[in-house]
Amino acid sequence: MPGAIYVETFGCQMNVADSELIIGHLAAHGYARTHDPAAADVILLNTCAIREHAEERVVGRLTDLARHKLERRDLVLGMCGCMAQHHRTALTARVPMLDLVVGPDAYRRLPALLDAARTARATPVGARGIPHAARAGGNPLIDVRLDADETYADLPAARAPGDIRAWVTIMRGCDKFCTFCVVPYVRGRERSVPADAVLAQVREAAAQGVREVVFLGQTVNAYRDGACDLAMLLRRAAEVPGIARLRFTSPHPSDMTPSLIAAMAEVPAVAPQLHLPVQSGSDTVLANMARGYTVGEYRDLVARLRDRIPEIALSTDVIVGFPDELPEDFDATCRLVEEVGYDHAYLFKYSQRSLTKAARLPDSVSEDEKSRRLAHIIALQEEIAAERNRRWIGRSVEVLVERPARRSPGHVAGKTPQFTTAVVASDAAPGTLVWATVTESTAHTLIATAA
Ligand code: 5AD
Ligand code: SF4
Repeated sequence: MPGAIYVETFGCQMNVADSELIIGHLAAHGYARTHDPAAADVILLNTCAIREHAEERVVGRLTDLARHKLERRDLVLGMCGCMAQHHRTALTARVPMLDLVVGPDAYRRLPALLDAARTARATPVGARGIPHAARAGGNPLIDVRLDADETYADLPAARAPGDIRAWVTIMRGCDKFCTFCVVPYVRGRERSVPADAVLAQVREAAAQGVREVVFLGQTVNAYRDGACDLAMLLRRAAEVPGIARLRFTSPHPSDMTPSLIAAMAEVPAVAPQLHLPVQSGSDTVLANMARGYTVGEYRDLVARLRDRIPEIALSTDVIVGFPDELPEDFDATCRLVEEVGYDHAYLFKYSQRSLTKAARLPDSVSEDEKSRRLAHIIALQEEIAAERNRRWIGRSVEVLVERPARRSPGHVAGKTPQFTTAVVASDAAPGTLVWATVTESTAHTLIATAA
């Protein structure tokens, strides 16, 4: 029965990695990937539940893709990932055209689930042979069982040939339960991929020509396999021939141990770059979020990182408009953002998520005020990022080339060790490291000439 599968991914890099895992697993069961939904026998949306906006985009896209069912009555339309887990059976009413709802711990069962869903669609019922699930109201197959042990350590990921960077999931789930966040409910408890399985993936990626590996996890620095923590895993991965750079994301500030900072400082392959979500610059809000650190502790951590890794680039996540965030709380966040001087920041307006503790908090801040705060901090961060990038003008940087630049003939695009995008006048092949002198900058890009 296997045929062509089309997968579309929403949300974070962990979902991108999960989609590779899904495609690899289904390929081992005879499915071929297609990039054209019209040619697919199965369409899967791998979804995100982190904010309402992300969920609305998925519903819009599903409605779009459902039109293919008019031409292909045996087509199976499925949803997997965090939104599938978040709404479970409630999706039936909201998105009646769905045939399959699969949570993030059920991907191992996808071949069998697809068989069952496709058999159901292909079996005519009723006098006119209308497939069962095509009837209004739908009746999707649902598998949203969370599994505290599932790490998919043995499943092959499908990577695009020629990729320079590989995203390798090393742990799944989260035990932190920040009050705003749905992740612990939809991804389940923390569990780590065995170190040997991670290292085998790194070696395999290197053999395919990958030069940079990014370790992924919801709280990636909570990684632990027996005595092997993230610091040790990085040291071991750095020994794999061919791997020029290692990164990891996203760490939690409370789990930034001295040994991890030492590994970052001492292992040349570990890039001087860290995404360190702060969420707020107010102790009151941080406590209400149950983040587990104070502004002072976060500041100390930044100082320790800058002391050991002077060229480190820092990025962050900030939520504005958390329930009852006062103007002075927001001002404190802006001051902290200025003080730290992030090279990059993801700035979000608080979005209420069902299941979470914060969803039950009273909130006196209007939507308009939240939007105003968001616009203010976005403008502030643009200036900071532009200023941070200007500091590189005249300096020499090592760029890992990824591809020809899209809009500049005669240029290649890649990343600096700090994970800043650089466009370099050069014809170097993807995968090469080139030294280049920075001549211009914007808030998001460096322009450079090969030395
Ligand atoms: N509303 C807004 N932003 C959120 N994030 C997580 N949950 C929410 C929410 N309910 C943000 C946090 C997190 C990032 C991945 O998404 O900043 O670090
Ligand atoms: Fe969500 Fe907090 Fe866990 Fe990050 S650490 S995934 S914000 S609960």
